Amino acid sequence: MKFYQKKTLGILLSAALSLSLAACGNSAPGDSSILIAYFTAAENSGVDAVASASYSTIDGEAVGRVRAVADMIQANTGGDLFSIQTSVIYPADGGELIDYAAIEQDENARPELTTHIENLEQYDTVFIGYPNWWADLPMAVYSFFDEYDFSGKTIIPFNVHNGSRFSRTIQTIEELEPDAAVIEDGFTVNERDVPDAAEDVAAWLEELGYGLQTGLVTNQILDGAEGEIHYSYYLPDGYSESREYPLMMAMPGYDMMWFGEDSAGSNVGWRGFLCWTELDEDMIVVSAQLTDWGEKSARQALELTEYFVENFSVDSSRVYAAGYSAGGETMSQAVSMRPDLYAAYLHGASQWDGDFVSVPEEGTAVYIFMAENDEYYGSERARDAYEGLYEAYESLGWTPEEIDGVLQVEIPDNAYFHQRGITGNYHGGGNVLFEDSSILSWIVSHHK
Ligand SMILES: Cc1cc2nc3c(=O)[nH]c(=O)nc-3n(C[C@H](O)[C@H](O)[C@H](O)COP(=O)(O)O)c2cc1C
Repeated sequence: MKFYQKKTLGILLSAALSLSLAACGNSAPGDSSILIAYFTAAENSGVDAVASASYSTIDGEAVGRVRAVADMIQANTGGDLFSIQTSVIYPADGGELIDYAAIEQDENARPELTTHIENLEQYDTVFIGYPNWWADLPMAVYSFFDEYDFSGKTIIPFNVHNGSRFSRTIQTIEELEPDAAVIEDGFTVNERDVPDAAEDVAAWLEELGYGLQTGLVTNQILDGAEGEIHYSYYLPDGYSESREYPLMMAMPGYDMMWFGEDSAGSNVGWRGFLCWTELDEDMIVVSAQLTDWGEKSARQALELTEYFVENFSVDSSRVYAAGYSAGGETMSQAVSMRPDLYAAYLHGASQWDGDFVSVPEEGTAVYIFMAENDEYYGSERARDAYEGLYEAYESLGWTPEEIDGVLQVEIPDNAYFHQRGITGNYHGGGNVLFEDSSILSWIVSHHK
């Protein structure tokens, strides 16, 4: 019998570990109460997945098949991935692995685990994934259940097989963890169907009540580089990773900024947020409550935008921004810092705190709206912003027609507001711009 003990294979081990930690694909916002533990030969054979016994590709990356399914669960639930790894190096060769696993099973072996769950107490739900090996759990998964007591937690099995589905493994888990709630309706998939399993995984999770939350999702916190970012977002019904969606990042005015818990969610009823959720086209819409309208908030707006682009199924050529009043001060800076990120920006009742050079260089479309008699800023600031951007386009050699396509200013007079029932507070009244479908359409018609 061969022994595959890891002794001097630190490099291979660290390669395997980095593989297990590399988050890939899109994922839901983090849910720290869900753990997705899995065992796959590819992360225990000391070679990369392609050279190991079996693998699938996910987002172009070769990973063990069980890992591929774990990633799909992660994309929907936002749980933490955990790779079960052992001091045994399993044979990369399929035939050898079959024999080796049989011996381990005959010996009722308990391979030593080299990865351990930190903060088990934080998890209420533990997904556990494994290949069917000889109609049973791999012995490493027995070691895993020996190591932890999952009493009071929910265990949800998933596996990959080549014909035997779960065999008796779910009953075995129930016997090993008698005080856990083991979900018997686990997810099982034939090894050849793994590449196409994402929709089935999503549907299964939906049925179990672990589906991705759609509609308005409020009071979220992103633990950002410069502190917490409080935000809410909207995911269209039927949101699916198999499609890509435009993204709108909408930043509200002063009265909806973050002033502590009492202010939580004050932006959710704001028309500047909701109007984008009501368009015919499905969009992902995000709105943050930041703490100032300076550079820090601008960086946080960018961080949140990037977080959504990376973690949701976003069409990166159609990322948009909108800012109103203080939110416009923030977003004009954010868009100036990263015009490459945004296809178009709606600047409502605000002053332009960004620069005029970077936006025209990227051709990010900008629509400026300000009441002629805005009490707070005065319409001169809108004209200044328009002229500043216009001149920068001209110096880049753009024609007036070309500039018109990417730069618009609208400075309506009192009569415009009176027609809409607004007879005072033209600054706050400027929110009517979010009812103007031609403005909203202009914004979302732009692509990178
Ligand atoms: C040692 C070993 C034993 C296996 N035994 C079974 C089995 O009894 N029934 C079955 O349906 N599939 C069996 N398979 C197929 C695996 O379950 C399948 O290839 C799975 O994709 C492996 O997961 P992985 O790609 O993450 O390593 C076995 C595979 C190996 C390597």
